[in-house]
Formats: sequence, C-alpha cells, structure tokens
Amino acid sequence: MTATEIENGKKDPENVEKITSYIRHLEEKIKERKIEINLLNNGLTKAEFEIKSLREEIDRLSELPLLSGHITDILDDNNDRAVVDSSPSASFIVRISNRLQKEKLVPGLHVALNQRNYAVMELLPSNFNPFVRGMEIIESLTGVSYDDIGGLEYQIQEVKEIIELPLKKPELFQKIGIEPPKGVLFYGLPGTGKTLLAKAVAHETNATFIKVVATELVQKFIGEGAQYVREIFSLARQKAPAILFIDELDAIGAVRMQDDTSGDREVNRTLMQLLSELDGFDQRGDIKFIGATNRSDILDPALLRPGRFDRIVEFPIPNEKAREAIFRVHMRNLHIEENIEINYLSAHTQGATGSDIKGICTEAGMYAIRRNSEIISGEDFIMAIEKIMSKKTEDFPASDIFL
Ligand SMILES: Nc1ncnc2c1ncn2[C@@H]1O[C@H](COP(=O)(O)OP(=O)(O)OP(=O)(O)O)[C@@H](O)[C@H]1O
Ligand SMILES: [Mg+2]
Repeated sequence: MTATEIENGKKDPENVEKITSYIRHLEEKIKERKIEINLLNNGLTKAEFEIKSLREEIDRLSELPLLSGHITDILDDNNDRAVVDSSPSASFIVRISNRLQKEKLVPGLHVALNQRNYAVMELLPSNFNPFVRGMEIIESLTGVSYDDIGGLEYQIQEVKEIIELPLKKPELFQKIGIEPPKGVLFYGLPGTGKTLLAKAVAHETNATFIKVVATELVQKFIGEGAQYVREIFSLARQKAPAILFIDELDAIGAVRMQDDTSGDREVNRTLMQLLSELDGFDQRGDIKFIGATNRSDILDPALLRPGRFDRIVEFPIPNEKAREAIFRVHMRNLHIEENIEINYLSAHTQGATGSDIKGICTEAGMYAIRRNSEIISGEDFIMAIEKIMSKKTEDFPASDIFL
C-alpha cells in the first residue's frame, strides 16, 4: 500500500477498516523488532562483559609475581604508607594500594607486595597453625599464682614491676613519659622456677600465655626460622594482652660463630630477626616478652643490650630459707603427719631446686602409698630426700651443681 493509495483510501470510508488493520499490523512488527533489539542488546552486553573479564584475566596472567612480606609498621600519614619486611635483611617504606581496606592493616600481617615497587597489594590470610608449629597458647591460665611459688620474692617483685605494671597500668608510663619495659630475661639452672613464674605472671595479669620453645624453633624450622619468628610476634599481637615466653632461648641466642655450617647461619638469622623484632616492638602494644635460659654466659651480648631485655633476673639455687618456702607450697595439699618439721627437710636438701623439692614431695607420697598408708610420714620424706638427692649427685657431680 503506497502513501497515495492510503491518501485516496481515506476518502473512501470502506477502506478505513483496511488501513486501521494495516496500522495494527505495523505496530505488531515494531513490537517484534523492539524485542529483537532488546535481545541483541542483551547479547551485546554479555559479549562485552566476557571481553572485559578475558582482558582482566590476561592482565592478571601477565602481571609480575607478587612478593610475600610482612607489615612491621603503618605510617601515620593517612594510613597511606607502611613499613614492610620482605627479606630478613631489609625493610621498605611502601605505598598501600587504594583497593585495600586500610583499617585492616596492622603490624604483623602477612601481605602480598608488588614486585617492582613493593606496594602492598593484597592481605594474605595468616596461614599458621600454632599447634602444628610448636607453639603453646594458653588463653588464660588458671591455678598458677604467685602463691604457688616459694622463695622467689625478689624475682616476683621484679616481674611485677617489669611485666605486670606496664600491662595493668600503661597510663602510668604514658603520664610520666617513659617507655614501659618490654621484657625480661630469666636465667637459672633447670627447675628453679622460671617457667613457673612466667605462667604465674600471665595468670595474674589475665594475659594470653604463648610459649615457644627455641630449640624446637631452630630444629624444626631451619630454612624458615625468621619467618616463624615473625609469625610468633604476629600471633602475640592478635592475642594481646599477651606474654610471649621463649624458653631455652640459648638455642637461638647462641653467640654468632665464625663456623659457617648452614645450621648455624640459620640460627643467626633467626636471632637477628628476633632482635630486630624486639627493637621494633610496639610500645603501646600490650605484649610483654619473657625469655628463659639456663646459660647466661652464651647469650649474645646484643640480646642483653639495654632496650631489648630491660632486666635480667637470676633464678638461683634456693637457699635454706627458700627451700623451706618451696616445701610449704608443695606440702600445702599433702596429707602429712603432724610432727614433720619443714626446717629439717630444708636443712637436708642443700643444692635441691624447686623442681627437686616437688619431686621429693611426690616421692614421699609414693612411699606412703607403698606402705598402704593414707598419711605421709617423716620417714617417707627422709627416704624421698635420699632418693632424689643421690640421683642428683649422680646426674651432676657436686662440682657441677653450682655452675
Ligand atoms: N620456687 C618454686 N616454688 C615452687 N615450686 C617450684 C619452684 N621452682 C620450681 N618449682 C617446681 O618445679 C617445677 C619445674 O619448675 P620450672 O618448670 O619453673 O623450672 P624452670 O626454671 O623453667 O626449668 P627449665 O630451665 O628446665 O625450664 C614447677 O612446675 C614447680 O612445681
Ligand atoms: Mg622452664
């Protein structure tokens, strides 16, 4: 139907119906075309989306690999920059990608770094399992208190000042303007109460007690020791307030030797990392550090420098008075005959440590059980003392007991 035909048709009323139906037909067609256009548009969007994601994938695949590193500090300028460690020997001040939620960035976090400029690109999950990795975490210790420690009044006093006070009243230090102490080094022979006191402080301050055994650290993690140390500190930050107890510190604190076997080198790297971590320890953070060792003589002098361990506390072999106090602690819950004189026991246990005294009490109990008695007698104690003390001189000839 042409335009003239329609024009002529208008004059002929019979044609009006024809024209109307033709218009309806055209409208239908338009509707169909519109639907077609919509479908095509949808297809186009899909194709565009696919192209975009393929492009992104190409970009991703052609990216340089990211480096793995750890944040050691966030700089105050709008959280835009951080200090990161990626190798044990160097720290970098780097930018933080805007895509990251900056408030989530905290020291200790494991992050992925751009290879060219070390910018922080991604947050990585902290992937360590403390139990697998030889750490012992006790969220809140029950049962070990200062009351369970005999004869270490001076040591308890020191620890109250260096560990307890800064954890409980950090504002005191802020007001006065001095840096709160970070940590203390315990040294003394085995069984003199170092671990016991560390646990008691954690309990008295409601801090998480994180124990790491340094010998295990060195033995198990040769090859990634420094990384492990970083993880330990990061864990402590997460669990703060925390007391980080590194036992057998001599194993990583061994004097740097010229000997270049790889094991020694690893020990030194771990040690250096530990020292730098100690140096960079967040002062505001409620993490305190207790190191313990049997041998102060082989500790690296750098560990003992001021600002690292604030104080060194010696755990001596208890004297007679201290032995008496330790006996009292361990006899508190024992069912014993009334006539037992504790000062007699302490007088006859010269050279015994706290752990020996505990052993004597247990052994005395065993003798009573063997006799089918429900009460421990003086005789049981005398036999127990003989047994433990003679074993002691076998293990350590007299000259070695007082190193
Ligand atoms: N001063 C003390 N008062 C009461 N008990 C003590 C004391 N010292 C040691 N003990 C007892 O001996 C046990 C072992 O002591 P602890 O584990 O603290 O020794 P340590 O100094 O850490 O030894 P090591 O160097 O071998 O780790 C304690 O669990 C406690 O029962
Ligand atoms: Mg111990």
